[in-house]
Amino acid sequence: MRGPYERVARMASGNAVVVFSVSGCCMCHVVKRLLLGLGVGPTVYELDQLDRGVADIQAVLSHLLASTSPAAASGASGSATASAVPVVFVGGKLLGGVEKVMSCHINGSLVPLLKQAGALWL
Ligand SMILES: *[C@@H]1O[C@H](CO)[C@@H](O)[C@H](O)[C@H]1NC(C)=O
Repeated sequence: MRGPYERVARMASGNAVVVFSVSGCCMCHVVKRLLLGLGVGPTVYELDQLDRGVADIQAVLSHLLASTSPAAASGASGSATASAVPVVFVGGKLLGGVEKVMSCHINGSLVPLLKQAGALWL
């Protein structure tokens, strides 16, 4: 029996870029569009469409997010259930939520990160 952390780690390392999302989540849509616009084809997990262990995965994701950005854990971005997504992994490593992705995009560190992970070639 694998724990939820291992499950998330396995899912997150399945592609150069992996997005944990919930269908209908606006900020998830924003992140997906940004990545697609940059030419990245991320693996997207719509958590609400998984058949089991969704609550466990969300708990793991919020915990991981909380360890990188205290603001994401405080519920500042909305309801407690929605705050865990989107979560973006690059090269199997946690990048962060929408704010982290956006700030990396704005300061120019996102594209080099994606290239390093093999998500972009040009
Ligand atoms: C860009 O912003 C991110 C997120 O705040 C930060 O982690 C990263 O170190 C910054 N990179 C540069 C080159 O400024």
